[in-house]
Parts: sequence; structure tokens; C-alpha cells
Amino acid sequence: MAAPVLPAQVSPPQFAVSDLLPGAITGVDVVAVPVLPADDGGDGTVLLGPGAAELSDDLAVDLVAVAELHGLTGKVGDVATLPVPDGTTTNPGLRLVVLVGVGAARPIDLRRAGAALARATRDREAVATSIPALAVDDQDVVDESEAIEAFVAGVMLGGFVFHWRSQGPPHQPVRRVVIAAPGLVADRAALERSVALGGAGWRSRLLASVPSNLKNPAWLASQAEEIASAAGLDVKIWDESQLAREGFGGILAVGAASATPPRLIQLTYTPRGIAARAARKLPVVVLVGKGITFDSGGLSIKPAASMGSMKRDMTGGGVVLATMAALADVDCPVRVVGLVPAAENAISGSALRPGDVIRHWGGRTTEVGNTDAEGRLVLADALAYAAAEHDPAVIVDVATLTGAVKVALGQQVGGLFATDDALAAALDAAGTRAGEPLWRFPLHAAYEDKLASKVADASNDPGGPGSITAALFLKPFVGDVPWAHLDIASVGDVEKEWHEWTVGPSGFGARLLLTWLGTPEPLAGVSD
Ligand code: BES
Ligand code: MN
Ligand code: ZN
Repeated sequence: MAAPVLPAQVSPPQFAVSDLLPGAITGVDVVAVPVLPADDGGDGTVLLGPGAAELSDDLAVDLVAVAELHGLTGKVGDVATLPVPDGTTTNPGLRLVVLVGVGAARPIDLRRAGAALARATRDREAVATSIPALAVDDQDVVDESEAIEAFVAGVMLGGFVFHWRSQGPPHQPVRRVVIAAPGLVADRAALERSVALGGAGWRSRLLASVPSNLKNPAWLASQAEEIASAAGLDVKIWDESQLAREGFGGILAVGAASATPPRLIQLTYTPRGIAARAARKLPVVVLVGKGITFDSGGLSIKPAASMGSMKRDMTGGGVVLATMAALADVDCPVRVVGLVPAAENAISGSALRPGDVIRHWGGRTTEVGNTDAEGRLVLADALAYAAAEHDPAVIVDVATLTGAVKVALGQQVGGLFATDDALAAALDAAGTRAGEPLWRFPLHAAYEDKLASKVADASNDPGGPGSITAALFLKPFVGDVPWAHLDIASVGDVEKEWHEWTVGPSGFGARLLLTWLGTPEPLAGVSD
């Protein structure tokens, strides 16, 4: 049968900045006005953001009164709309005013206000807003670029749509967003960076949303090739015979049952604008992403209820691809290699069996106690290869690895393990800034005993605590390279719409990795 064809998908909005107040911008059919709780709090009145007074005059309507009539208190994400059938003299095309609660106007609030704006402006042409001009952080200090980043991420992700409908998508995100904030937000570079970050979130989410009847290892590799040519990256793909020749026993074992054979994908980024010889001396960060294109569990088959979302078991791989695609846009100053071991954990007569022993790249062996603990088997090959062949300063892997991390953290926080405190701190800070928060777990050495196998170097089924023993399984493969492991099984799926998180695969991790790799010194303080 012919391969399925992915229908055309919607695009995220275009963004621009303007020095005008929102009501003075023409060519937009919507103006969105930020609503804050009044300082004194008590009497229920609200304050409106920049441009609201001028817009009230143009409309001959008191927008504060409108906000109060709708019961708005400035709570973040609360929205009210005012139709404007005839426009204003300054902007005859204006049709709708949206009042958006921005709470305390911290970055997290602006991200949520952005998502609320995205929902309120679905299928509209263009919106002008001064929402990001309100930025304050916990210390009441304004960081313009962080404010724009948060707002743009909220608008982009809050409007994310994936569809495979014969009649087209149910909704389109608003086509254009103009950030209108005279004096404060004039930083176009910050906007470009924000769009790159939001776009990476969008891309990783899109990849995770694609169903597995299309998304097999070869398809994921073809996506990597497209990204490489668009972003100017080097690309190398290992097919199943090359994997066999070079000894990638974990990837081959997990992919052995599938009609669509495994691949190993490698993308390489080198910062631009420096001489080739100098570039070769830059430190290397290796990112490894779990690329299981479907996880049935294998012969240790999953119950139907847990298998339903397993098309997104390549989220870590998608995160790595989306990160690689945007490194140049955030001026990443180090070399970065992205590795995605891609395989389908399927069931057939050639499937990996419980009790089998496999030999990973580099020679370590694993006894397979449970074929559903497949992620660590493919990661092991890639980590060993990365440590031995790329002389990395740091390795970071991203994987939907264990159900146990969801039990521990719920669905809003990802798990972090690290052998280096500076690396852990940098990733934690990046996660907070990006709105993809992490919580650090211990690589508690005494649990290593649980990994013992009677016949091989380790068992892949060590028992609980599941997230920690999975991380300890991976650890020997990186040797002494500073290493962090992100277990994102907790945050991979959004079950209930929540601010910027629309229902479906989340693509969690790309904005955090780019936030980290886009800092001037991502490796500062990391031991060498
Ligand atoms: N892909 C799953 C982990 C997962 C679970 C991701 C739930 C997202 C939501 C992984 O391959 C897996 O099956 N892990 C097992 C390991 C066990 C058999 C040792 C698990 O966590 O149950
Ligand atoms: Mn599994
Ligand atoms: Zn899995």
C-alpha cells in the first residue's frame, strides 16, 4: 500500500513589533488590551495596559467599565471581548477588542496571557497588543527579552493545531501578531529569538503528533535531512545494514520486529562566522533523543490503555531535531551533535525476547528482562558512541523513558538527572525560563545493585525506583563525560488543555535546550 500522506498543516502566526500604540496600528482586525488587578485590590477595579486610554477615546467606550461589566479582575488568562462593527477612525478595519487578564505580569503570566490571546483570536487575520510591554519579574525588574519570549511562546503554542481531516483543520491560529509597545519593546533581535524558540516547541510537538503509520524510523530520518538542508547542518544516517556492520546491537534488537527497520540519525551544528580551524577547537555538546516511533512494549506487550499514546515515544528525538534546527537562530556558541536512535518497538516472529542478551555499541552487554524497557537499549548505543567518537564536553539525553517519573512528578514537571552540578543548574534555570520546568533526582549509587544480571553486564529490568534505576542503567555508557538525562515521560502528553499546553503530545524540552544552548557560555562551570 502507498505510504500515507500528511495533509498540509497550519502554520504558527507571523510576529512583528511596532513603535505605535495598538489602537494606532492599521491592517489588524483585533486589538488585545492587557488587564491587571488594580494595586489597591479591594474595590474590584482593574487597570488597563498601554494604549487602552487612547483606544477608549477612539471607540468612545470606557474599556475599564467594559472590563468590570464582564467581571474581569485581571486574573491571568481571563478574557472578555467587545465587538467593534464599524472600526475606529484610526483603524477602520478593527472588528474586535479583546481584554486579556495578565495577573502579576511575570513571564509565566505573559506566557499564559499569550495562550489566552491565541484562543480568543482563532481564525482572525491580525492582532495588535501591548501585553508584553507589562513585563515585571519577581523583583519588579523588567527583562524585555524574557517577556517577549514568554508571550510569543504562549501565543504560538496556545494556537497549535495538528489535523488529519479531509475538510481541513478545525481552526487556524491568528495569522499575524503585532507587538505594540512604544519605548519598551523595540528589540527586534529578541523577537527573532523568541520566534525561533516558539517555533522549536511547535516543531517538536508536530513531530510527536504525527501518527506512527507515517512516522517510522526512515520517515524521521527524512525529516532530519530536510532540517539539515534548511538549517545548514551536516547529516549522517545509518541504515540497518550500517548499524549491523558497526555493532549498534541495542538499536537493532529493539527494531528487529518491525516492518520498518531502525535508523540512527546524526546532525551536526558548527557556529557560523568563525574560521574552520577555530571552529574545530570549540567544545562539543552531544544531544541524544529517544526515537521510538511506536512503543507497543514488544513481546512484553503493553495493555491497550497504555499503548494509546505511544506514537509520541519519539518525543525526545523530536526535541533534539527541533533544537538542532534552531541553534543558529539563538546564536549557539558551541558545536552541537544531535543523535537520534530511531526504532519501532513492534511484535513479530523476529522480535526481541525476554532473556535475550544484546551487545551494545562499544561492547557492554545487557540481559533483556522486559522488552518494554526498550528506550534505554537504544540510548545505550547512542550514548556509548557519543562518548567514544565525539570527544564531548557534555552529553545530554532526552527521553520519554519511564512511567515512574509521571508517578513522582505528575504532568507538569520533567525529571532531571546529572553527574555535574553546574550542568544541572544550567538546565534547571533554562527550564524555568522556558516554562519547561525540571526537578532533579538522585543518581543514588546504592541502587546500582538492582541492575545486576546473572549473565550480562546489566539487566534492563532492575525494578524500582524506576526512574532512578533507568538513569543508573544509562550512566556507565557515558563513561566520565559530564552528563545530564531528562526523563520527560511525565510531561510528554497533555491530557487537559492548560494555558499554552493544548491537548496532545507536548514536545516538551526543545525550548529549554535552546534556552540553555543560546546562552553566551552554556558550559560555564562544568567540570572538564
Ligand atoms: N515509553 C515507555 C515510558 C512511558 C510510559 C512514556 C508512560 C510515556 C508514558 C517506556 O518505554 C516504558 O515502557 N517503560 C517501562 C519500563 C519498565 C518495563 C522497566 C515503564 O516505565 O513501565
Ligand atoms: Mn517501553
Ligand atoms: Zn518507550
